[in-house]
Amino acid sequence: MTEYVMLHLADEQVPPDAERLIAEGLERVKGINWFDFVASDYQVVYTVLAALQRGRFCEWGSGMGVVTGLAAMLGYDAYGVEFHEPLVERSKALLRDFKLSCRVELGDYLEREDQADLYFAYCWPNRVMQLEEHFHKVAPRGSRLLVYYGRNDVRCLPKQ
Ligand SMILES: C[S@@+](CC[C@H](N)C(=O)[O-])C[C@H]1O[C@@H](n2cnc3c(N)ncnc32)[C@H](O)[C@@H]1O
Repeated sequence: MTEYVMLHLADEQVPPDAERLIAEGLERVKGINWFDFVASDYQVVYTVLAALQRGRFCEWGSGMGVVTGLAAMLGYDAYGVEFHEPLVERSKALLRDFKLSCRVELGDYLEREDQADLYFAYCWPNRVMQLEEHFHKVAPRGSRLLVYYGRNDVRCLPKQ
């Protein structure tokens, strides 16, 4: 059974370096026309990540890599997985240009067994069940999955 737990948001402003990464990511993704990419609200995601315990972070479907980069800025050991190659290339360049120590890997996260303490995913609503099943199958006990539904709705699913 799916039992989400309550999330708290950090009571802090998004710092200027994070705002620059967000703005640059949104600018650089403009040339990419890929039906599956929709940006999450990065300021909201930042305040969610800022409130959680740091550890290994994996973004499933990392798009432009902005969430992965924000996680790295916040002190997570972060990486992203993305299956659209042009996005992988652009996100790698973005994160390199911002000198962030995190990475993006090309691949289908549903075919991988990524091990992390915290996962983040933003997918189509009709894919959430598959996402949750995959999380329960591969994630280590005690890890958590953040599912972004919208700027007012980010859910946290723990792995018991
Ligand atoms: C809605 S976008 C969100 C992108 C990013 N997480 C964000 O918050 O801005 C979903 C991304 O996941 C990627 N994606 C979808 N299914 C995937 C899969 N099975 N493996 C890897 N990437 C996937 C898409 O190509 C797309 O870039």
